Amino acid sequence: MRIAKTILLVALGLLALPMPLAAQQAIDEVRIEKGQSLYKSRDYECDSCHGWAGRGKPADHPYSTLNDGTKLEYGGNALVASTMTRDEMVMMISCGRISSGVNIMPMYRGDAWTTAYPCWGKVAADIPENQRPLRAPQRMLSPTDIELVVDYVQAVYQGKDMTWDWCRKYFDDFLRICEVWAERGIQ
Ligand code: HEC
Repeated sequence: MRIAKTILLVALGLLALPMPLAAQQAIDEVRIEKGQSLYKSRDYECDSCHGWAGRGKPADHPYSTLNDGTKLEYGGNALVASTMTRDEMVMMISCGRISSGVNIMPMYRGDAWTTAYPCWGKVAADIPENQRPLRAPQRMLSPTDIELVVDYVQAVYQGKDMTWDWCRKYFDDFLRICEVWAERGIQ
């Protein structure tokens, strides 16, 4: 009886301990990998504008020219240079962005711009129809997936340089692209 009680107390004590660091890191890594697979997926097309290395697309890239010939300053800005907080990124990806009347970043959250999820304090009715961000090109993201993709952007791009390991994961071990990037800096 006493032994059983001791075991119970030890077990409870273990539950109260914070998760060991290595286990926590493993969970983070899994989240970041999930975020990467969303980012590079053809369903969401983040990399068509922001690039696989998160460096954005220059103004002369085809994605930087709209169908009516309007030239954007860039097709997608450099996520490596982002100064946004986590919450700001979540809102940007959820709500999208219109700048000077041009849709530059699609919205990825289905209920964005409604009272369920207002964007910068506004709902769709507050802005003219032609000023509302377009919906994502293929599919919307769930709120959970938006969190995962932000984990990835913050862990691998923001203020960082692409690493060999993350390049390998990006291209599923198709190493030629990573070699060219590592040797000649071509992205
Ligand atoms: C059609 C091109 C396009 C697509 C697709 C796109 N973005 Fe963007 N994104 C942009 C542009 C352009 C901006 C800059 C907006 C601005 O400067 O106001 C931006 C801004 C951002 C920002 C804010 C960075 C900063 O500091 O300004 C984040 C984070 C981001 N995008 C992540 C994503 C993710 C993740 C996806 C995919 C789920 C995605 N984007 C899809 C074009 C795109």
